[in-house]
Amino acid sequence: MKIIKTANKITAELLNKKKIGFIPTMGCLHDGHVSLIRKSKKKKLLTIVSIFVNPLQFNNKKDFKKYPKTIFKDLNICKKNKVDYVYLPQKKDIYPEKKIIIKNKIHYFKNYMEGKFRPGHFEGVIEVVKRLLSHIKTTYLFLGKKDYQQLIIIKKYLEKINSKIKVVPCDTIRARNGIALSSRNKLLNERSLIIAGKIISFLKRNKNQIIKSKKNIFFLKKIKEFGADKVDYLSAFNLKKLKKTNKPSINTRVFLAYYLNGVRLIDNF
Ligand code: PAJ
Repeated sequence: MKIIKTANKITAELLNKKKIGFIPTMGCLHDGHVSLIRKSKKKKLLTIVSIFVNPLQFNNKKDFKKYPKTIFKDLNICKKNKVDYVYLPQKKDIYPEKKIIIKNKIHYFKNYMEGKFRPGHFEGVIEVVKRLLSHIKTTYLFLGKKDYQQLIIIKKYLEKINSKIKVVPCDTIRARNGIALSSRNKLLNERSLIIAGKIISFLKRNKNQIIKSKKNIFFLKKIKEFGADKVDYLSAFNLKKLKKTNKPSINTRVFLAYYLNGVRLIDNF
């Protein structure tokens, strides 16, 4: 496994390499990230993991500062899973300019959910992905359904610029109590992890009622009763139409974001 720390070097290393599988991450790797790595290895791709906590996608400075960092553990996980290259860019590799001006406009799906509650978030995601992809000319891009809205927005962005990169959507990996694995779970104490498990199990059990309910007042109240500080949204979405829906169907997914012990968690099912 090679560890590469600059944009020039990674681009030079990958020159003329074919069949690349790229997994962009912000580190603090867990089995969710590992499932993406394994998918790439299974396809026999030259597998590249990037680790970069992208300041541009945090609309809250405190949130950016407290984002967990476990670089030595991350490198061990990559090594164990036979990652070929780990790209660890510095801020100046990704954002060499003094003043960053975000040019890309996102047309799809951005005023809902994460887009609504984290203004500027997806613009920051697209900006970093665009720059990472200019350093790593990948064939496949592995993205998790855990961040379904991000997955759709990146896919639409690549379609819009006529990119040939193939996006591989990967299922959400969950802990035994049902909660989606997330780097932010590291910020939760044991009690909060138990509460998160109760919330997701309860919501999954009542999926159809949530979808059919117009305002979800009952479920929002329930989530708070379990111990959440605040709920940003609990909405059903039709993934084909990219619109809110009240109809259960194979394209309907429930999305939620809430705060537990000051930590913001998102999930969808
Ligand atoms: P990060 O949260 O580190 O996630 C990296 C990738 O792992 C994303 O595609 C995410 O959807 C996927 N992932 C996270 N938890 C998962 C789980 N439990 N099961 C399956 N996949 C999971 O998403 C980002 O970083 C950033 O926004 C990034 C795309 C790297 C841009 O900065």
